Amino acid sequence: MVAIMGTSGSGKSTLLNILGFIDKISNGEYYFDGENVETLTSVELAEFRNKKVGFVFQYFALLNDYTVYENIQLPLLKTKLSKKEKKKIIEEYLIEFGITSQKNKRPQEISGGQQQRVAIIRALVTNPSYILADEPTGALDKKNGEAIMNILKDLNKNGKTIIIVTHDNNVANFCDRIITIDDGKIINSLCV
Ligand SMILES: Nc1ncnc2c1ncn2[C@@H]1O[C@H](COP(=O)(O)OP(=O)(O)OP(=O)(O)O)[C@@H](O)[C@H]1O
Ligand SMILES: [Mg+2]
Repeated sequence: MVAIMGTSGSGKSTLLNILGFIDKISNGEYYFDGENVETLTSVELAEFRNKKVGFVFQYFALLNDYTVYENIQLPLLKTKLSKKEKKKIIEEYLIEFGITSQKNKRPQEISGGQQQRVAIIRALVTNPSYILADEPTGALDKKNGEAIMNILKDLNKNGKTIIIVTHDNNVANFCDRIITIDDGKIINSLCV
């Protein structure tokens, strides 16, 4: 579980977007699982994005016209899973995250903490190798922020790699390693 810290404009989101196959590097090399990412075609990159990584954002990035269930189902639409298999995966997460009763509501009808739980489930349903989170608690009050961090910590204890961009020392303290960047360069890497 890694925190990426640094002042505004230092390149945190850029780094996250490179790691998540959204942005391309203009310098250097990025190897993922031994593969040089620069050599991948756009189709292969899209496949990497769908299969390898789950994104969580500060403002949740849920689709307002879709229900909680439908939002979570989105990343599964292009998989070969049957409707029944998809339902099983989603329902198990809804129970685990305590939001089963919210599944037919739209994002604006549930709390921020609940919306971020939905976004985390959406990031998890494809069973990605790692989760990238850009200020995941930035739009939440202290209590809900802590609850979300505990969820991410539990996922990490169960083997999921989690990379979090944050300005918040409390969030960084949940992590095993804190990387500080400044003007696009790592200036400190601390193992806790
Ligand atoms: N698409 C882009 N094209 C060109 N420059 C960009 C682009 N996106 C970001 N930048 C620049 O790259 C630098 C790093 O931006 P980035 O968004 O990664 O910062 P950040 O550390 O996430 O900041 P914040 O804490 O404010 O979110 C900034 O100088 C920004 O203006
Ligand atoms: Mg940013």
